[in-house]
Amino acid sequence: MEALECIKTRRSVRKYSDQPVTREILDQIFEAVTYAPSWKNTQSVRYTVVESQELKEKIAEEAVLGFALNQKSISRCPVLLIQSTINSISGHSPDGGTDTSKGDTWTMYDAGVSAQTLCLAANDYGLGTVIMGVFDEKVLAELIQLPENQTVTGMIAIGYPAGPNKMPPRKPAAELVTYL
Ligand SMILES: Cc1cc2nc3c(=O)[nH]c(=O)nc-3n(C[C@H](O)[C@H](O)[C@H](O)COP(=O)(O)O)c2cc1C
Repeated sequence: MEALECIKTRRSVRKYSDQPVTREILDQIFEAVTYAPSWKNTQSVRYTVVESQELKEKIAEEAVLGFALNQKSISRCPVLLIQSTINSISGHSPDGGTDTSKGDTWTMYDAGVSAQTLCLAANDYGLGTVIMGVFDEKVLAELIQLPENQTVTGMIAIGYPAGPNKMPPRKPAAELVTYL
């Protein structure tokens, strides 16, 4: 698939077919994710793969603040990815201070770049994804036994789409851009 086609055909997918997602294909997607840029190439973004239906149901029940849309996506998806970042790396200088006025918010920037790289790679392999930002990060961290030096930054459900997904409307590019 051409790059622009991949960017334009990626959709948030919340309903999935029964086709399983193999570890082989996940590994290929994660290999592509390693190419994502990051703050000073610090590469602090990590993924925890949840394949167990029991754990997915527990996450849907206890860790998404009762948000029904996410509860459904998580229960339905064959694989749930929990994205996290290693604390105090992105945006930081070697002495532990932060390099810019944006402090350590660059961590979320890195997480976003990584997530979009993952979603595009998945789209290229015919898989659908949805990034989810509505969750209780403390409960989620406990449920997946996340190491203490990491923070949850997002969830991504992944699976083969059950059918076509309509694109929500986009603003015209001219509205996003100011040429000086
Ligand atoms: C940071 C972020 C958080 C999001 N959180 C959720 C979420 O919690 N649940 C959900 O169903 N979709 C979520 N989405 C998906 C957006 O709703 C979706 O990207 C947007 O409607 C555009 O649709 P498209 O992805 O199909 O182009 C999130 C997307 C982003 C980038």
